[in-house]
Amino acid sequence: MPYTHDSPIPIANHAPPAHTHPIARPQPMDATDSSKAKSGVGDAMVHFQFHFHFHPAHAKRLILPQRQFDLITMNEISIEELPGIGPATAEKLKDAGFNSIEAIAVASPSELAGTAEIGESTAVKIIAAARTSADVGGFETGDAILERRKEIGKLKLGCTEVDNMMGGGFETQAITEVYGEFGSGKTQIAHQLAVNVQLPVGMGGLYGSVIIIDTENTFRPDRITSMVEGASKRYETEYDPEEFLKNIHVARAYNSNHQILLMDTASELADSLRDTDKPVRLLIVDSLTAHFRAEYVGRGTLADRQQKLNKHLHALMRFGDLHNAMVFVTNQVMSKPDAFFGDPTKPIGGHILGHTSTFRLYLRKSKGDKRVAKLVDSPNLPDGEALYTVTPEGLFD
Ligand code: GTP
Ligand code: MG
Repeated sequence: MPYTHDSPIPIANHAPPAHTHPIARPQPMDATDSSKAKSGVGDAMVHFQFHFHFHPAHAKRLILPQRQFDLITMNEISIEELPGIGPATAEKLKDAGFNSIEAIAVASPSELAGTAEIGESTAVKIIAAARTSADVGGFETGDAILERRKEIGKLKLGCTEVDNMMGGGFETQAITEVYGEFGSGKTQIAHQLAVNVQLPVGMGGLYGSVIIIDTENTFRPDRITSMVEGASKRYETEYDPEEFLKNIHVARAYNSNHQILLMDTASELADSLRDTDKPVRLLIVDSLTAHFRAEYVGRGTLADRQQKLNKHLHALMRFGDLHNAMVFVTNQVMSKPDAFFGDPTKPIGGHILGHTSTFRLYLRKSKGDKRVAKLVDSPNLPDGEALYTVTPEGLFD
């Protein structure tokens, strides 16, 4: 089994008895419990405000081969100890979200210089030092990459055709983008993944929690509840929807700048959950592009928009790598009125998004509740189409 981390109960393809399962319902909910269930999202949002001390030694635990991890553990250093970083700069870097050696090591000099208000040549030196300490940025041999890729988890949607098309599930350490017109099922998939990620590995989950950046106010706790009830039936286990809601951390993003800023809070939250029994294994941004599209109107604004989007995407990629998390983003389509042949839609976000997302899926409506997902871009999988169904209890074959 390629993914074994944090799965306290290695379960085969059958459901465990309800009383042994950590997220099974312990007893029937009483009135107080159900009122709490309704405030589950609010709790999560409050949770989002906390600040935590980040320990650099934790940063690559999940994605480094054991030898490198040992080196880092023996040689723990904080960002203050990097040459060229005084307490004031360290503070600025942390405020800008660069709160680990790894985050600095993979930043670009202009990004670091801009956010921490330091000179670009200083930024270059700091990044070089961080790369040496974190042991990133050099060449890796094929066998080392193979070793790191063994950590990649696969999150199943629970729809056989889609999961097969994705090579057994949606990968962690990668960005998966879905695009499609309104009602094509993007938000439905996001909800279903937020439920499934909490299931044990043997049931297609990653036994983790989820962070959702909701830009369109479309997160619905009651939809999660229905889907958890669907999962209970499917796996013949009595799951507690309230427990699932507690592991979903939702923040509304009110504009594109706010959306970008929320990534800092998301990183802090993920750092704080890293050593718990439910580390963050899924980050959802629904919708990735809506604010950018609404705010940057007209040709003259395109370069600015793409630059910001690019920065945001790199923060997402970094999050996926550092936390061994799946990153799931949704995107709208624009109609191409000049397209007389073929499908008259294409995703917005331009080349930057196209090149940064690892997997791209195009969703479209079919008859009734049926939807079609088409894999249009992937580094290692053949293009293909898969059919799935949206039902009141979630997504099925
Ligand atoms: P936009 O965000 O508007 O671009 O669309 P989207 O792609 O996110 O669409 P979304 O995932 O919200 O899909 C909405 C569609 O899902 C609805 O039009 C319904 O067809 C379907 N749907 C949502 N909830 C249910 C449900 O409880 N039961 C069933 N059968 N279908 C549902
Ligand atoms: Mg939506």
